[in-house]
Amino acid sequence: MGELKVLIDEKTLQDKIQELAETIMKDYEGKELTFICILKGSALFTVDLAKKIKNNVRFEFIRVSSYGDSTESSGKVTMKLDLQDSIEGRDVIIIEDIIDTGRTLSYLRDYLKDKNPASLKICTLLDKKERRIFDIEPDYTAFNIPDKFVVGYGLDDKENLRNLPYVGYYDI
Ligand code: IMP
Ligand code: MG
Repeated sequence: MGELKVLIDEKTLQDKIQELAETIMKDYEGKELTFICILKGSALFTVDLAKKIKNNVRFEFIRVSSYGDSTESSGKVTMKLDLQDSIEGRDVIIIEDIIDTGRTLSYLRDYLKDKNPASLKICTLLDKKERRIFDIEPDYTAFNIPDKFVVGYGLDDKENLRNLPYVGYYDI
């Protein structure tokens, strides 16, 4: 692994999240929201986005895993932590850290649709569009990024570096 470089600095991240928050507030005027934070990667993004939103935001947490120890997809999505409360009739936004192949979100979208929310949208911090295999199109995207392995701001390298306030990558 080479040197850790900055891909998206802290100010650029926070400015874009503010913009996203304003768009979401317009789209959901007068409505209560439920954010489903996909652990662990989306924890920081979910919190920062929710703090910038004036609507009441309820939190749910889900943990799934589709990757083993490596960074390659093992192909199967398994539920590790399920919803705590019902989302029936609620306006739900799935908050994801990154969409890569789309496998995780295509599984989650179908799983959550079955719980009969009033509406279901997808908000992602990062999108690696060129890696897509599954048919997933997010409703809100903070940043489209090239096909690089990124870390920080929630994203890990074998559980490390999640607490970086910026998104970085290894220059090889
Ligand atoms: P997908 O199911 O292939 O779309 O993968 C999504 C999940 O893979 C994300 O929620 C991340 O946990 C992980 N992931 C994909 N790309 C990266 C990366 O560049 N850095 C860290 N984690 C990643
Ligand atoms: Mg991960």
